[in-house]
Order: sequence, then structure tokens, then C-alpha cells
Amino acid sequence: MEKISRTKVVDVLRRTDFGATVNVKGWVRTRRGSKQVNFIALNDGSTIHNVQIVVDLETFDEEMLKQITTGACLSVNGILTESPGAGQNAEIQATEIQVLGTCDNTYPLQKKGHSLEFLREVAHLRPRTNTFGAVFRISHHMSMAIHQFFHERGFFNFHTPLITASDCEGAGQMFQVTTLNLYDLKKDENGSILYDDDFFGRQTSLTVSGQLEGELAATALGAIYTFGPTFRAENSNTPRHLAEFWMVEPEVAFNEIGENMDLAEDFIKYCVQWALDHCMDDITFLNNMFDKGLIERLQGVLKDSFVRLTYTEGIRILEEAVAGGRAFEFPVYWGADLASEHERYLVEEHFKRPVILTDYPKEIKSFYMKQNEDGKTVRAMDVLFPKIGEIIGGSEREADYNKLMTRIQEMNIPMKDMWWYLDTRKFGTCPHSGFGMGFERLLLFVTGMSNIRDVIPFPRTPRNAEF
Ligand code: 4AD
Ligand code: MG
Repeated sequence: MEKISRTKVVDVLRRTDFGATVNVKGWVRTRRGSKQVNFIALNDGSTIHNVQIVVDLETFDEEMLKQITTGACLSVNGILTESPGAGQNAEIQATEIQVLGTCDNTYPLQKKGHSLEFLREVAHLRPRTNTFGAVFRISHHMSMAIHQFFHERGFFNFHTPLITASDCEGAGQMFQVTTLNLYDLKKDENGSILYDDDFFGRQTSLTVSGQLEGELAATALGAIYTFGPTFRAENSNTPRHLAEFWMVEPEVAFNEIGENMDLAEDFIKYCVQWALDHCMDDITFLNNMFDKGLIERLQGVLKDSFVRLTYTEGIRILEEAVAGGRAFEFPVYWGADLASEHERYLVEEHFKRPVILTDYPKEIKSFYMKQNEDGKTVRAMDVLFPKIGEIIGGSEREADYNKLMTRIQEMNIPMKDMWWYLDTRKFGTCPHSGFGMGFERLLLFVTGMSNIRDVIPFPRTPRNAEF
């Protein structure tokens, strides 16, 4: 076969130099045609679109032609030709075909229209489908948008550790990291495990958030963001929870809660605008396949400013709804943690746009949040989105050493683990704020997929760590 340098499908479809000789490589999506001519739809992942290969059967070897089955990998040389078919510019009139990899009929992606549930069972192959190709290309573009947004604003990307000895959210939902022999654990007279011989000489876990180390960086570099994996051993089997997910956490010195809200709103709008600017082919596909309201919803959040509302006000609206006959699965009262159904009621039914809820009861929020003068609430903020519920959680941080200490003691957080964090409040403390956005929650919103297992390549959820 003549050696011609490869053109990606995304590029070949844009070319108009008809008559040129080109090479494309990719996987067969479909093959159809008559006894004389076959049409192969070839995809190489560079775009949702396939390039059509036109094969004049009598000029090719019969044994080779038999190997061109769904899923087979081909290298094709041919003449770039203006396509008579609607919806495509260019096709390729094949002159030489090499089968790089055959694919027999045990290939699980034979026909179109598999359910998303089935595709989760073949997560190793699902990136080859139109749907998951689209989702993972969008995922890449969202990573780029995130780095670009913060870089443009002078934030520094800061790497925080994944193995840690502290529990940022204080919720005790951590996966332990150990090299101890689980079949032969040494214990003291009270039955507690002795960690002296463990790798780090102490009990360690996978981090639930990079925030605490992010605060150290913000009170030195001014404005930083982390973007990395986080882990939560919470036993929630919902369409919005993963045990391993990626989180983006900006942290800014001197920002108060209002500026933190501005940053969160600008940030999400920037990401959504970026998706509309860079991923329209894939978004259009997902809009047509799964979620006819997707494009409209994306444009919708860009239009208006987000509603800003206190938790107390939010509860009042929900209580009024209940009084008016609206049924919820979980009870509504001041002090209750909001369920996703409550968040979505506020966003989708009451205000019909995104809501930033602030000033939550201190009992349902983390120890580090700035305490309000009322003694009951803290300067927390959750950004609530249509179809998703909470997409961002953040707060202004408690900058006062004594108030922070009191809260840590009230909540029984092990003090000796926290000395380095408390140093930020001891040495030149300052007002500062930040938030965390779950990357896969953003992807849920931008792709319109309804289960978080379908926006991450290899989901980790309770009782599931395949692939
Ligand atoms: O609200 P969370 O727990 O806040 C924090 O971790 C803070 N330390 C963030 C900060 O202020 N720097 O989590 C933040 C976000 C949530 O709003 C949600 O989008 C996402 O992380 N998230 C999850 N995403 C997928 N699966 C889970 N189990 C998630 N838990 C939280
Ligand atoms: Mg939260």
C-alpha cells in the first residue's frame, strides 16, 4: 500500500481540494451498498461525523472485502471527491484498502441503539459510540475552558495531595490508604490499630477535597485553583454521586462571599459559553438524541443573572409550596439539609433560573465556614442548577483564629491533625473565600446526560470498580 500521510476525518471533511489523494484511518461504523458499490462509514474519533468511503467492489480482493465488518480498523487511500449526498461535503473514492484489525461478530457494538445501561457494561468499548465520543470530546473542552478561565484571570494552578491525614469536610467518608497486612493487624490493648508500621507511620486516606491545602496557597499566592481527583466513600447510589470524581476548587485571598458568588457565576457561564462555541456538533447530536431541551437550557443560563437568596428565604418558599399542596419526598423545615428535589423546585419551578443559596445553618455545613453574627448561620453558598441541583458548594472562610478553634472543638475535629491549617489564621490571617465545582456535575449539565456514570469514562460507585 502506498504510504500517504494520514488526514484526520475532522480535517478531511473540511477539505475542498477535490481530486487530491488522501489517507484516512479509522473504525468501520456501518457498511451498506449493492453488488457493485459499497459505502463504508468510517470514524476515527476526531469528530462525531463519519467519512464515507466509496468502494468499487470489483477492483478489490474478495477476501479482503470480507474483513470489512462493523468495528474493523481500516487504512484507506483514495481520491477526495465532492459528495453528492446531503449533509456532507467530501467523500473518498477508495483506491487501496488495508485492514489493520479485523473484528468478528462477537463485537458488542454491532448495531446502533444500545441502551446506556448496556453500554456501561462495556465501558471499555463505549467511547467508540457516537454518544460517548461526543461526551468525552466535550469533557476535554471543558477541562480546557477551566484552565483558560482561571489563567486569564491570573489564578495559579496548584496541585494538592491526594493522600492525606486530614478530613476536609469532616464527614468521615474517606477511603483508607495503607500498606498494612489486613490479615494480620497489630492492635494496642484497647483494640485500636497500631499505624506505626504503616507506610506513613500514621493513618492516611484519599482526599475528599483539596481545599485546606488550597487555602494555604491562596494566602500566599493570592488566587489559586486546584483541579484534580477527589474520593468519597459515601454510600449514595444516585445519578449524581460518584465515589471518585474530579473537582475544581478556586480559593482567593481578600474575596468576601459576594465576590465569591460573582466568581462562581462568571465561571460557570464561561464554561457553558465555551461549550456552545467549541462543541456545537457534539451538543447538537446529544440534543437530538437524548434531550431536546439541551441547547435551549444552555443558552438559558447565560441570559439572566443567577438569583441570590438566603437559605432561610429558600425554606420559606418551599414551606409555602408545601402549604399550597406541593408534595416532596423529604420534609422541609428550617435546619433541614436540602434534597435535590427541593433545590430543583426552587430552580426549575419557582425562579426558572439558577439560584445561589447562602447563609445555611451551621449544623449542616463544614467547620471552616465563616460564622454570621446571628450565631446560627454560616456564610456558605451553594449554586443550584436546573436538572442537576447542587453544582457548586463553597463559602467565605472563618478567618478568626478563636472562632475557628471553638468550632473545631464543638465539632470534635481531631486538633492535632489541623495545626498546619490553623497557622494560616495565626500568621497574617485574612478574609478569603472559595468554592468547589464537581467536574462531572458540570458535564451532566453541558451534555444533558442524566446519569453521572455516563459522563466519566470509568465510573466508581458503590459495589462497582470494573475496568
Ligand atoms: O459541597 P462539597 O462537598 O464542597 C467541598 O468539598 C468544599 N471543600 C469545596 C470548597 O469550598 N473548596 O463539594 C463540592 C462540589 C459539589 O457542589 C458537587 O458539584 C461536587 O463537588 N460533588 C460531587 N460530585 C460527584 N460525586 C460526589 N459524590 C460529589 N460530592 C460533591
Ligand atoms: Mg456541598
